[in-house]
Amino acid sequence: MKVLGIETSCDETAVAVVEDGLKVLASTVASQVPLHRAYGGIVPEVACRAHVAALLPALETALKQSGISLKDVDAVAATHAPGLVGSLLVGLTAGKTLAWVLDRPFLAVNHLAAHLHATRMADPAAPYPAVTLLASGGHTALYLSRADGEDEAVGRTVDDAAGEAFDKAAKVLGLGYPGGPEIDRLAASGRADAIDFPRGEGPGPYDFSFSGLKTAVLYRCRGPRGKDPLALTEPEKADVAASFQEAVVDALVARTMAAARDLGAASVRLSGGVACNRRLRAKIKEEAEQAGMAAVCPPPALCTDNAAMVAGLAGILLAKGERSSLDVDAFARVEGPLAGRRFMAKGARASK
Ligand code: KG4
Ligand code: ZN
Repeated sequence: MKVLGIETSCDETAVAVVEDGLKVLASTVASQVPLHRAYGGIVPEVACRAHVAALLPALETALKQSGISLKDVDAVAATHAPGLVGSLLVGLTAGKTLAWVLDRPFLAVNHLAAHLHATRMADPAAPYPAVTLLASGGHTALYLSRADGEDEAVGRTVDDAAGEAFDKAAKVLGLGYPGGPEIDRLAASGRADAIDFPRGEGPGPYDFSFSGLKTAVLYRCRGPRGKDPLALTEPEKADVAASFQEAVVDALVARTMAAARDLGAASVRLSGGVACNRRLRAKIKEEAEQAGMAAVCPPPALCTDNAAMVAGLAGILLAKGERSSLDVDAFARVEGPLAGRRFMAKGARASK
């Protein structure tokens, strides 16, 4: 079954064609990073307007790449939650319209479940139970998967997402946006043990907290009042970047491995933009190996937001008979086993 998938939950306009849940025939991502760079973060109104402009060209590119035409598409899928509602609506409406025009089944996909599926696409043979760390700009949570598709959040951040912490620390250091890749690069020339930044524990054993770390970086770079920029030298900045990265990676890996050990995982997996981080990938592989578990670190293009994971997951669920009606809505948040959030907004709806 060839599924056309659309992903527009945040700032990437992505379209992909995936066969039988795993085989990527095409995957294209139109990034909006240059548009949001001027603001130092994602502006929702700018994002949804850009999705409108980028979606049809992305669809054409994906079809060309895949070598198939629209009439060869067996089903259509689009992300409908969680994310920026205006952005989600662009891809969701396009997906529903295509399904209706082509007279094919449609499936609305949960973005978090799609990130988990990305680890299955990267290594279909990796064993279960699995503990997956999903760390991106909007989410940071740990999931236990007892089997393919049986996923449940077991920990989450109580404040900032890990990617958000990277972006904010980079801003304080005067680096570009998005901050994660910039810190990753600068950290390579710094000393990870130069500064003992807090590792931030959450209320539960597998929870995270990154707001204290962010403040510590601010004070380190701008003095005790957090206001007067200290003229850090380049080597000092590199030390802050390396020590900050080490603190985040330590916190992420320690909780992931604790959950994996306690819950009897046979594999540990990474997903989300922060999973591109080289130090995180190296450390999780090292610790998993020591613990006798398989480590799955998908290629960066499958870690960051993409439509291959959406079309892939949809292929598996459609084959099991799942379908969405064409009046399915978009939601900013989700409830239920995948929520990954301790504090839910009133009125949030399940979207599995
Ligand atoms: O998954 P993603 O592409 O989009 C969502 O947020 O959903 O993740 C983007 C986040 C940004 O915060 C970015 O700074 C971070 O992932 N990121 C990284 C790296 N590459 C991207 N963080 C640390 N190290 C990296 N190499
Ligand atoms: Zn994402």
